[in-house]
Amino acid sequence: MELNLIQDKFKSLFGTEGTMYTSPGRINLIGEHTDYNGGFVLPGAIDKAMYCKIKPNDTDKVRAYALDLEESAEFGLYENDLPSKQWAKYIYGVCREMIKKGKNVPGFDCVFAGDVPLGAGMSSSAALESCFGFAINDTYDLGFDRFELALIGQATEHNYVGVMCGIMDQFASCFGKEGSLIRLDCRSLEYQYVPFNPEGYRLVLINSCVSHNLAEGAYNKRRKSCENVTAAIRKHHSEVELLRDANLDMLREVANEVSAEDYIRSEFVIEEIQRLLDACKALKKGDYEIVGKKMYETHIGLSQKYAVSCEELDFLNDIARECGVAGSRVMGGGFGGCTINLVKNELYDGFVKRAIESYEQKFKIKPKVYDVVIKNGARRL
Ligand code: GLA
Repeated sequence: MELNLIQDKFKSLFGTEGTMYTSPGRINLIGEHTDYNGGFVLPGAIDKAMYCKIKPNDTDKVRAYALDLEESAEFGLYENDLPSKQWAKYIYGVCREMIKKGKNVPGFDCVFAGDVPLGAGMSSSAALESCFGFAINDTYDLGFDRFELALIGQATEHNYVGVMCGIMDQFASCFGKEGSLIRLDCRSLEYQYVPFNPEGYRLVLINSCVSHNLAEGAYNKRRKSCENVTAAIRKHHSEVELLRDANLDMLREVANEVSAEDYIRSEFVIEEIQRLLDACKALKKGDYEIVGKKMYETHIGLSQKYAVSCEELDFLNDIARECGVAGSRVMGGGFGGCTINLVKNELYDGFVKRAIESYEQKFKIKPKVYDVVIKNGARRL
């Protein structure tokens, strides 16, 4: 990322210097659509991030410039100042959530840019929220810790963007640690760093370049299915607060009380939480073949039960299997974006070549390939 482009633009727009902050996108090894069900996830922050330069401007307005889009926005921070541009809503939302928590957030000037691909399942929006959350908190010494900043980012999605997401993306962006994945319990927010250095293997993302838009409602519908089933199970088992507390026997008990669609989606989630725990055990033993096997199972579940895959991603998954890749699956919310692949070093070149060629031949789109490098979370530069 060319940080001096941000620097130069800031200088030319505002005639002064500011302070630079960054927050990264994320991968998730396994544990998909489990976060908003109180389950576990296993994300890591990556070397692709959002960057912003920021400086107080002694007004009550935010003047923001999105360098990648060459667009500017100016807005106040009162309740009826919601900006019209989508990207500005993230900045506004973060400020509003801070104000709701009793803090004073004066106006500022900012320029931002990033290299997290949009709509690719690497959480560009969480990176943006966390970048601004961290920057504003530090600039005005507001005293929020990283947990609160992650929750502020999540609340921004809920209240200003309309995506009822879980906490995984913002948490990974705020808490990322170089070389480690984060095993996060999404209910208690207890977490452990799991050093990730799969000897003999590489992690690579293949971007289908089919873009997804979680706000279109499919994501929120999946969440609603889980809530419906949880409510049905709770009638029989009052201790079940979230789907994470349920097991397959409890689910079977309510088969006639919920829709077939809600049932199958919840089955996926209950199985996925267990899959993550199994994968973590295998990781501890350094058994990456088992980890990979679980990733394939997750893909099948996401595709056939949770219905968040698509033809392009299923195709990439098939290619991985044919090439002998240890593990492969759709990553993130779904409906497009990337597959994440755990591949033996000696198979890497052949797999990547074949994936690019056959995908391009079939869909007339050249997929993008990213090697995963696990990096640190939000920080001042
Ligand atoms: C999106 C959401 C996350 C999570 C994933 C699916 O990335 O923002 O909270 O639910 O989808 O695991």
